[in-house]
Amino acid sequence: MSNTTGYVDVVLGLQWGDEGKGKIADFLTPKYDVVARFQGGPNAGHSLEMNGKKHVLNTIPSGIFHENCINLIGNGVVMDPVRLMEEIRRTEAAGANVKKNLYISRKANIILPTHKLLDAASEQKKGDQKIGSTLRGIGPTYRDKYGRSGLRAGDMFSDNFKQKYEACIERHKALMTHYDFTDFDLESLENEFFNAIDELKSYQFVDSEYFVNDLLKQGKKILAEGAQGSMLDIDFGSYPFVTSSNTISGGMTVGLGVAPKHIRSVKGIFKAYCTRVGSGPFPSELFDNNGEDLRQKGFEFGATTGRPRRCGWLDLVALKYAVMLSGVDELIMMKSDVLSGFDKVCVGTGYKNHQGEEVDTIPFDFVDAGFTSRYTEHEGWSEDLTAIRSEDEFPETFKNYIHWLEQEVGVPIKVVSLGPDRAQTVVRG
Ligand code: GDP
Ligand code: IMO
Ligand code: MG
Repeated sequence: MSNTTGYVDVVLGLQWGDEGKGKIADFLTPKYDVVARFQGGPNAGHSLEMNGKKHVLNTIPSGIFHENCINLIGNGVVMDPVRLMEEIRRTEAAGANVKKNLYISRKANIILPTHKLLDAASEQKKGDQKIGSTLRGIGPTYRDKYGRSGLRAGDMFSDNFKQKYEACIERHKALMTHYDFTDFDLESLENEFFNAIDELKSYQFVDSEYFVNDLLKQGKKILAEGAQGSMLDIDFGSYPFVTSSNTISGGMTVGLGVAPKHIRSVKGIFKAYCTRVGSGPFPSELFDNNGEDLRQKGFEFGATTGRPRRCGWLDLVALKYAVMLSGVDELIMMKSDVLSGFDKVCVGTGYKNHQGEEVDTIPFDFVDAGFTSRYTEHEGWSEDLTAIRSEDEFPETFKNYIHWLEQEVGVPIKVVSLGPDRAQTVVRG
């Protein structure tokens, strides 16, 4: 860490997304001056619950409901003006001061209407092999970013924005023809796009790399909030069934323009079991009643798309991999309350492939190997955990489960979440 007084803590998902990042970022916000998103876009759905109300955020950081917190959408994020304006209106109606507290990087790439169409076209073309994308235009927008032909938020203020836009659209139309994807009404999509841009321009846009480094110089404390999960990382996830950004802690440095020396700690979030939305390998997936129980009790339906999530037991091979990749200093365990009432709680500690060969790491051919998990069984707990506010009240078997996990992963579990509400959170001593 540097000798400036400010620092960055990174909080990120260690599984396939939806670990509960929104809830925890909101819970931790009082300890920070700034909450910043560094990657992803409106493919994310981060749920927060407080005072009996639920809020879902997609692009806005999860500190927005705290009065004096700066919320920054960093350069690494891809931003859809239409969806962002809808989200801003929703969030303002719920009482947040978005005009004052939200800052958007001029370097954040813009999701155009045709990026969303291209997402749908590409998935349609892939057929059985489709990724299960959220269809928010994420892949096509990052493709243009890295192909050096994207538009960025700052371009919205330039006199020749319309010309730059038209050049992109012409390219996209040609691609759509290639995909044989012609059934769309671009004109109405463009109307809502340009209307949203007109409104969005009245919010605060900044050169975020200077903005965030100035805040660090002033001694401010920053919470960098990840989106998606480590197993959806573009480099290290189950490629090609991944998202298009780096979801691990390294993504923070490029997604905000903050040097690694400013990182104080990395907080990794995981569910006490596993879920996945969309296609791709999931060795500990359950297809029996236990899977259905997890889905119903954990209300495992997508916050963004409403899709039922695939459910399974905790996968320690994947969890250890994610901890290694991000240098996780402390763990935050979510949704243990959902496991109450299972006689046995299983944890995947290794994989078996089609030939019965066993591994306990994630190899290159993870996608094709057809892995299923090898499990250890733990005695379950029947007590309802949702009203517990201190670790002394944890049932013995639950304590044992926590200790065993800490030993296996080699990282302490500092926070245990026992329900969706902000208040249902236990910080361990
Ligand atoms: P995120 O994308 O990582 O922010 O997670 P999501 O919001 O997509 O999904 C997490 C879901 O679990 C949301 O519906 C939360 O309200 C809910 N949730 C978060 N923590 C807990 C918990 O400890 N127990 C229970 N039962 N639900 C939780
Ligand atoms: P949060 O931040 C869970 C999944 C999609 C699909 C793949 C690629 O709420 O945890 P994309 O739209 O990025 O092209 O989809 O990644 N996915 C998520 N799954 N939580 C998310 O975000 C996700 N964002 C993308 O289901 O399989
Ligand atoms: Mg989510």
